[in-house]
Amino acid sequence: MLRTMVGGLELQSPLLTGSGTFGHDPAALAFLNPGDLGALVLKTVTPEPRFGNPSQRLAEFPGGVINAIGLENKGLVYWRDHVAPQLKEVPLPVVANAGGHSATDYVAMVEAFDAMDGVAAIELNLSCPNVKGGTQFSTDAQALEDVVRACRKTTDKPLWVKLSPNVTSIVPFAKAAEASGANALTVCNTLVGLLVDWRKRKPVIANGTGGLSGPAAKPVAMRLVWEASSAVKIPVIASGGASTAEDVLEFIVSGASAVQIGTASFRRPNAISEIATDLRHILGQEKLTLDELRGTLIWPH
Ligand SMILES: Cc1cc2nc3c(=O)[nH]c(=O)nc-3n(C[C@H](O)[C@H](O)[C@H](O)COP(=O)(O)O)c2cc1C
Repeated sequence: MLRTMVGGLELQSPLLTGSGTFGHDPAALAFLNPGDLGALVLKTVTPEPRFGNPSQRLAEFPGGVINAIGLENKGLVYWRDHVAPQLKEVPLPVVANAGGHSATDYVAMVEAFDAMDGVAAIELNLSCPNVKGGTQFSTDAQALEDVVRACRKTTDKPLWVKLSPNVTSIVPFAKAAEASGANALTVCNTLVGLLVDWRKRKPVIANGTGGLSGPAAKPVAMRLVWEASSAVKIPVIASGGASTAEDVLEFIVSGASAVQIGTASFRRPNAISEIATDLRHILGQEKLTLDELRGTLIWPH
């Protein structure tokens, strides 16, 4: 009932993890029932190890969380030797997520992921707001087109491009990714936000600003999914604030092919299974399929 085709992958469910918000180990997957998760999208890996930003790096507010982790990771060599071998045991498609400072970095990551059996698709994180230079490719459509084209030449695996919400219009970026051979778009990364501790006269997050995610991001992500999916033919994967089956159906009607669940899994590690159960129930009750609903938003004129 939930089977979905997304950017070159056939998935048993349209629900995916959001990069950086879920583990890849059996302990993390044990929170979910088999059949509920479509693909495991993993945290960004960069060519070199990164320590990330100083703490405090994560803070809650009533609408979600603000984070400035800063792409902490142990780097490609560690990942290749210690993480990739475990991925062959994961009974689902695994989507590896690539980060970097330059086009050369992205190409190197894609080349490495291309050679790993356990990686079914590659998501390019061109849009991290929490590292210096993290959005250079997602705020300049020509730079985005060039880097995606270079990555496209490096792999035949499905290539997904994760776009930034922090732009005046997402349409030129969606079109540039499609023109350079992306198989799908992930819309979108976190929104730049600021939490203030007025008593200390300081930002709560040590980095100053951070990336906003969770329920408060949903209306912005919804608009961007609608705008991007109206502008391109490749599938759009929604990311931003989904925490219930109703949220997922809103994204599907707005044009999404699949939906990543991120911050919701922090509060409820089994959120994806709860959402999948509710989705099956609602679709059964309404006698509707995801394909019948996808992109059916009626725009007022
Ligand atoms: C703590 C945290 C870490 C994240 N790390 C990454 C990351 O490494 N790479 C990436 O592409 N997105 C990262 N994201 C963004 C999420 O994948 C997702 O796009 C965003 O949180 C919006 O979805 P949500 O509201 O469902 O969380 C991170 C988000 C959070 C909250």
